[in-house]
Amino acid sequence: MERIETSRVVIVGAGLGALYAALKLAPRPVVMISPEALGGGASSAWAQGGVAAAMDAADSAESHAADTVRAGDGTVDSAIADLVTREARAHILDLTELGTPFDRTAEGGYVMSREAAHSFARVVRVKGDQAGAEIMAALIAQVRETPSIQVLEGVMAVDLEVEAGRVRGVAVQAADEARSRPVMLRGSAVLLAGGGSGGLYAVTTNPPRIRGQVIGMAARAGAMIADAEFVQFHPTAMDVGEDPAPLATEALRGEGAVLINAAGERFMQSVHPDAELAPRDVVARAIFAQSQAGARPMLDTRAVLGEAIKAQYPAVAEACARNGINPAVEPIPVAAAAHYHMGGIATDAQGRASLAGLWVCGEASSTGLHGANRLASNGLLEALVFARICAEGIAEAVPLADAAPVEVVFGAGGAAPDAAAVARLRSVMTSHVGVVREGAGLRAALREIAGLEAEYGGSVSFANMCATATLIAASALLREESRGAHERSDFPRALPGAGRRSRMTYEEACAL
Ligand code: SIN
Repeated sequence: MERIETSRVVIVGAGLGALYAALKLAPRPVVMISPEALGGGASSAWAQGGVAAAMDAADSAESHAADTVRAGDGTVDSAIADLVTREARAHILDLTELGTPFDRTAEGGYVMSREAAHSFARVVRVKGDQAGAEIMAALIAQVRETPSIQVLEGVMAVDLEVEAGRVRGVAVQAADEARSRPVMLRGSAVLLAGGGSGGLYAVTTNPPRIRGQVIGMAARAGAMIADAEFVQFHPTAMDVGEDPAPLATEALRGEGAVLINAAGERFMQSVHPDAELAPRDVVARAIFAQSQAGARPMLDTRAVLGEAIKAQYPAVAEACARNGINPAVEPIPVAAAAHYHMGGIATDAQGRASLAGLWVCGEASSTGLHGANRLASNGLLEALVFARICAEGIAEAVPLADAAPVEVVFGAGGAAPDAAAVARLRSVMTSHVGVVREGAGLRAALREIAGLEAEYGGSVSFANMCATATLIAASALLREESRGAHERSDFPRALPGAGRRSRMTYEEACAL
């Protein structure tokens, strides 16, 4: 394999964590690996709700941390929750300085949305449901003007090089995998910020390329993986036959939109005292049960928003229009969809993975913030806080040095994932490792994934997807209880006492 030596920091990914870390590392030279044109294909850009932060004088970081711990169902690291929620306000002010046009009140304060399981209206938003896209646009503009940041667009990471327990490089290839032999990029440090795993499932809100490749790549290199079984399903993805499924933001329920079924029954009232604003895992399971029973769950925004949904939630309105739905006069069909992976590459409070030389931030990481059920709009917040932490750690570890731009030329060769194999993998995950799991199904999934990996693992990115799928199924099999987003029909109760976080290597998962 061709090898390129650079003193740049290699950042894998181009979402919020990657962009923010690259800016915080400046003037230290970095090279970012972005599978698509900058801004395309990152989950962050699709986030609708916003960023959770206690901005109101009557709110507090302590209350935000307490809600985070409560939602996580016994498995949140409370020190991490304290750290992240304490920093939230400063990052919102920083994003404002960097050009994010947050929605403002007539008095100049931040407009705050209410989302499930928050005890306060605590989510800053942009143009209603455009938070992810607008924050990304502001950061991309900054990145484009920062000379120390080189972006390799149309390039993806497939492997890590590890020497004596230390990560030394990242194998990259053209995102069009069928036409590219990998090249090894050896940098001064490696930061993984390449997103989660939602696209491993047949029904997901994540962009098409987000299929657990970065977590799988690190796992195959020997990194410790934590809480892999905790996959969050969003209750209100639109059930309109699109892949990925468009999101109908939880902020709509915060405004008062209700969930009904084909019989017109408001079914959440009999499930939880907080009804539509119950914790996300509770609502997702209720929606899933309605779908399984053929009761056709729907989100009804008519009474609370009417025509105003079009101006106030343009992304939702646009997806409705594309699918011939007028939410002002009819409810929106919804389904539970894989949305966010609480698990990922285990990090310490400094964002360091178990392999030296490797830092991780954003959804690819498992810092301990989310536990078994992420509190809404804590995902972008965690990416910001840990991007800052990782950038500082890398800056301390790596001497500041000039670096020429990296020039990568890919030779012919390489293998793209087989489309039918990917579809099979996604179907297995949805059938056996989805909203409700049980032992026999999880064992069947592990066998099927191993078979697919053996047959189609010649494509390294498919092997990476299979590694993450294996870890999710194996961790789900070992957790013989129901907790947060992890529901076992054969172990329907949580084990007594606080939950434990799970930790597993890929080798251990394969041995099951
Ligand atoms: C949403 O807008 O409903 C999603 C927010 C999140 O996942 O944090």
